[in-house]
Amino acid sequence: MAPKRKLIVIVGITGNQGGSVASRFLSDPRYHIRGLTRNPCSPSARALASKGVEIIPADLDDVATLIPAFRGANLIFSVTNYWEPFFRPDCRAKAAELGMSCRKYAYEVEVRQGRNIADAVATTVESLDENGFIASTLSHAARCSRGRFNELYHFDAKAEVFPDHVGENHKLLARKTSYVQTGFFMSSYRLALGAYFRKTDEDSFLMSFPCSRHAPIPHLDVSTDLGPFIYAVSQLPPGKHYLAAGTTCSWSEYMRIWSETTGNQTSYKETGLQELIENTPDKEFGREIGDMYLYSSNPGYDGGDKTLLKAQDIKKLGAECPMTGLEEWMRKEDWSMVLNQ
Ligand SMILES: NC(=O)c1ccc[n+]([C@@H]2O[C@H](COP(=O)([O-])OP(=O)(O)OC[C@H]3O[C@@H](n4cnc5c(N)ncnc54)[C@H](OP(=O)(O)O)[C@@H]3O)[C@@H](O)[C@H]2O)c1
Repeated sequence: MAPKRKLIVIVGITGNQGGSVASRFLSDPRYHIRGLTRNPCSPSARALASKGVEIIPADLDDVATLIPAFRGANLIFSVTNYWEPFFRPDCRAKAAELGMSCRKYAYEVEVRQGRNIADAVATTVESLDENGFIASTLSHAARCSRGRFNELYHFDAKAEVFPDHVGENHKLLARKTSYVQTGFFMSSYRLALGAYFRKTDEDSFLMSFPCSRHAPIPHLDVSTDLGPFIYAVSQLPPGKHYLAAGTTCSWSEYMRIWSETTGNQTSYKETGLQELIENTPDKEFGREIGDMYLYSSNPGYDGGDKTLLKAQDIKKLGAECPMTGLEEWMRKEDWSMVLNQ
């Protein structure tokens, strides 16, 4: 008789992070994969189902759908998405009705959904492996900056649940949990093209962020590398905090590498927060990411935490953790969106 397979449950399986985790675990026949989605009929959910993933309907806003979805899991990966309630028109309308910014509104949704995940995972703590819950998160900006950044909502919403809420309310679960901060997605330039690459001449491009030209920034090829990173973390003892990134380099260095890769002229200009907001069509988006760039300068994207474990630390501990470097990723990327703007 074939040995019973382990059950991994993946939140956000139809997205960047969860999709990468699914890809990695699909190549290990010892795992049965269960993925959560609001819409099992979407093309991405169907594609996963055709690969053998058990797709089940669940909503992070409804903890009653999460409890049965997590039941019996040996391993759970979770991610929360700040940007959906931030951008959705009905959420914008609700925020306006409540008299709050869409940034704060999205923060409240993300915290609520994160707590729902943690509370539901806690109901199956007995079935989880020793390191059975791995949560995607970011650093706590308000705390790490000693109050200088009190409105970096998409960072704090994650950190206030993972690890804060878990540590304060679910002691048993906390002992079986690991936290993975994710670096800047290398693909994120597509979301803010004008800020990353402003065409100043036929073959000249300017990047202008409110971030020191020397600040080290972690860059992550999320779709290729997050899955192998989470797979490696799952093999290590629990209770640790990680940072997933393939390359750590400043934005000015990023532009130098891009110039070498594509043969275009580049420059980097340190700009102010107000200038970034003015140059961003969605002012609220400009403010949220502007704060992120400032915070990345000081104390740093990771909040200045030098104890976070990285891919090289994982390798030293004996687990495989292949990561894509920025230059390697840039060579594979189709840059026509930038070059033809
Ligand atoms: N962009 C960057 O550079 C960067 C860097 C670090 C961290 N992050 C963080 O990454 C997060 C987004 O991760 P991602 O890129 O993987 O997201 P994504 O590709 O947009 O996917 C979002 C996933 O979440 C699921 N989801 C959303 N709301 C849900 C709900 N109410 N119930 C059930 N499932 C729900 C979606 O499932 P269905 O739609 O199928 O239901 C989908 O699978 C954000 O919070 C962001 O702050 C981004």
